Amino acid sequence: MSMQHTARLEPQENEPLLEVDGISIEYTTRSEGSLRAIDDLSFRVSEDEIFGLVGESGCGKSTVAKSLLGLLPNNGEVVEGDIRYRGVDLTGLSREELNEFRWEHISLISQGAMNALNPVHRISSQIIESIQAHRDVSTDEARERVAELFELVGLDPERMDDYPHQFSGGMKQRAYIAMALSLDPDLIIADEPTTALDVIVQDQILKRIKELQEDLGISMILISHDISVVAETCDRLGVMYAGKMMEYGDLKSIFGDTYNPYMLGLQNAFPTLSGEKQDLISIPGSTPDLKEISEECRFVNRCPFAEKECRTTHPPLEKVNNDHYSACYRHDDVEELRELANKREAWHQEGKL
Ligand SMILES: Nc1ncnc2c1ncn2[C@@H]1O[C@H](COP(=O)(O)OP(=O)(O)OP(=O)(O)O)[C@@H](O)[C@H]1O
Ligand SMILES: [Mg+2]
Repeated sequence: MSMQHTARLEPQENEPLLEVDGISIEYTTRSEGSLRAIDDLSFRVSEDEIFGLVGESGCGKSTVAKSLLGLLPNNGEVVEGDIRYRGVDLTGLSREELNEFRWEHISLISQGAMNALNPVHRISSQIIESIQAHRDVSTDEARERVAELFELVGLDPERMDDYPHQFSGGMKQRAYIAMALSLDPDLIIADEPTTALDVIVQDQILKRIKELQEDLGISMILISHDISVVAETCDRLGVMYAGKMMEYGDLKSIFGDTYNPYMLGLQNAFPTLSGEKQDLISIPGSTPDLKEISEECRFVNRCPFAEKECRTTHPPLEKVNNDHYSACYRHDDVEELRELANKREAWHQEGKL
């Protein structure tokens, strides 16, 4: 192995954990040509933190997750920007090189992963296989590791030789989390890890994820369409809309001092996990079709506060607080917008462009 090869693939401890810098991702389809699903998106994930990515269905969360490990489908491509993991440029690696990275440094719990457990193999053998694909260990040693992982995620090690259908949804999700932890990665990406589960199981799993993250000192990207999930779990947050970052940074600042109309709307639209009573107000309309996206602010047609300027170009992300950024032309009027956003009437009237 040449020095150059080693340096290119060796994560450097002193470099930032993950930096995503100005990535754009396009899908090519036979009927529509190329569609830009992600446009100039940047974020970073630091040591020991849970970074949340939130936004409505179709905003591009899974596309971002897949791009980090080179797992985009064949018709998808990162056309601009850099993804650096501890100094290693992931966009410059081949699929084989990224496979080395996967599980070892970064694990992805992909959306619906728990249903992807192979029904004809015992859970233990699926995890053992993934361990032995990367590590030269005996089956007995790998079994021991599986027992340890089961304890970690709150499963009874006695059940490790069960088949997936003998597990409940919550147990399958825990088993998949165990698999993601098997090679001690520094970063875990969990794409909608609790979406298919009922609220109580969801809450238990999120608590366990948080404990694991703290106890093992790993970092995590937690993806959800549900802001109550990220609110309870994350340290920092990225709020996405139609392939763009709308609000980004410190979670407490984003929730306590919201600047972006989209985030103001989202906050009204979800019940809290703790079940607090709240008048839910949904944002009328739906996310724009990728082929209909133009230069203007992507949220303009659903935003009750839109003004003429919002029709010009999509607003740039601006710093509004320490580690807190928002993309909106109306930051100066934020107090007024916050007040209006709590009222149902505001969202159900035509914007005054
Ligand atoms: N293979 C593909 N070919 C073409 N377009 C795609 C492909 N995969 C995703 N898209 C489009 O890219 C956009 C982002 O999709 P993505 O699955 O990343 O969204 P998401 O935020 O994860 O949504 P959800 O919350 O439903 O999981 C959508 O408009 C989707 O239709
Ligand atoms: Mg998704």
